[in-house]
Amino acid sequence: MTKKIAILLSGRGSNFLAIYENIRKGELDAEICAVISDKKSAKGLLKAKELGLPSYFVSFKNKLEGEKKVIEIVECKKADLICLAGFMRVLSRDFVKRFKWRILNIHPSLLPSFPGLEAQEQALEYGVKYSGCTVHFVDEGVDSGPIVKQAVVKVFDDDTPEKLADRILREEHKIYSEAINIVLNNQYVINGRRVLLKKS
Ligand code: GAR
Repeated sequence: MTKKIAILLSGRGSNFLAIYENIRKGELDAEICAVISDKKSAKGLLKAKELGLPSYFVSFKNKLEGEKKVIEIVECKKADLICLAGFMRVLSRDFVKRFKWRILNIHPSLLPSFPGLEAQEQALEYGVKYSGCTVHFVDEGVDSGPIVKQAVVKVFDDDTPEKLADRILREEHKIYSEAINIVLNNQYVINGRRVLLKKS
């Protein structure tokens, strides 16, 4: 049976659109049951509305109230998985506990390097020669949960944060759907912090 995913975003929504496209092309067996944004005018939310997807603006002025509303939507829609796709807020311990192993996030660096904001700037400033992106389960920390998938991107001498971010984004669009597939199809086992693929 096709599993349901709820997407949380705060901005442009290119990761959401990549997931949507991969579902449309039949490369990802999932249904987007809700797109939720903490920003009323987020491009991603407007796009979701245009596409006719169930779309919700949820104010996070009061974080607990915001999370309560998100829980209501996610549970009413019976989402199997919550995918953070450029959702720029740290979720509370209680929220994360409630959906243990059911929240994924994508981050534009090779974690555990450069968590938090402006990961691409951090990577350039540090002087790494390779960066990339990471899909991980969300735990109570910031960008600290067990890693499902990563992709590596070379850093060039003439990179700017924007150029690097663009190249990383292309990889994000691939690995997020791959990671969602693994999780929705229960193709993994957890060993400590390690997310290992089940042998088929
Ligand atoms: C992406 O690069 C994503 O990895 C990053 O925000 C961007 C959202 O782009 N997320 C974080 O930095 C979370 N800490 P998008 O709105 O086009 O998907």
